[in-house]
Amino acid sequence: MAESIRVLLSEKEVDERIQAIGEQISKDYQGRQVHLVCVLKGGSFFMCELAKRITVPVSLDFMSVSSYGSDTKSSGVVKIVKDLDESLKDKDVIVVEDIVDSGRTLSYLLEMLKDRGPRSLRLCTLLDKPERRVVDVKVDYTGFEIPDEFVVGYGLDYDQRYRNLPYIGVVEFN
Ligand code: IMP
Ligand code: MG
Repeated sequence: MAESIRVLLSEKEVDERIQAIGEQISKDYQGRQVHLVCVLKGGSFFMCELAKRITVPVSLDFMSVSSYGSDTKSSGVVKIVKDLDESLKDKDVIVVEDIVDSGRTLSYLLEMLKDRGPRSLRLCTLLDKPERRVVDVKVDYTGFEIPDEFVVGYGLDYDQRYRNLPYIGVVEFN
């Protein structure tokens, strides 16, 4: 099927918002170290940009879960594909995600990470689609709330493509 991309959030808008979140996190974690947990692959572009703008000490780890195939709808199945390398014990953890949609992935993930004994655990997402929520998730830092449309770019994919777009776009199926 042919598709085209309509710009929803420009590169400048996204970068400015990430700068603001970075400043907020730097303020909130003054005197501490933050441990960013990136949810691959979608969260990777956002995490790198965010980490560059945080002024308190930062450490990073990565994990990969899957709940989506090539489809644009959640399967509801969450599987750990790659686990973290490091323990979360006594760390101030911020999970960095690309998007919270139904909330299934995050609610599962946060419950699991809570059991690993972090000192604190927060969630930071670039995008949030509140209309789509099925499971309640507390989001601590949000880049943008967006309408219920399928978006790509800045790490988000459609069938593994478009992650590298430097802006957020809506996929339009022609
Ligand atoms: P949830 O479990 O329904 O909240 O979905 C979480 C995952 O679905 C996200 O981390 C994304 O990988 C994927 N996802 C949800 N909405 C979109 C979208 O609009 N574009 C691309 N991926 C999406
Ligand atoms: Mg994701």
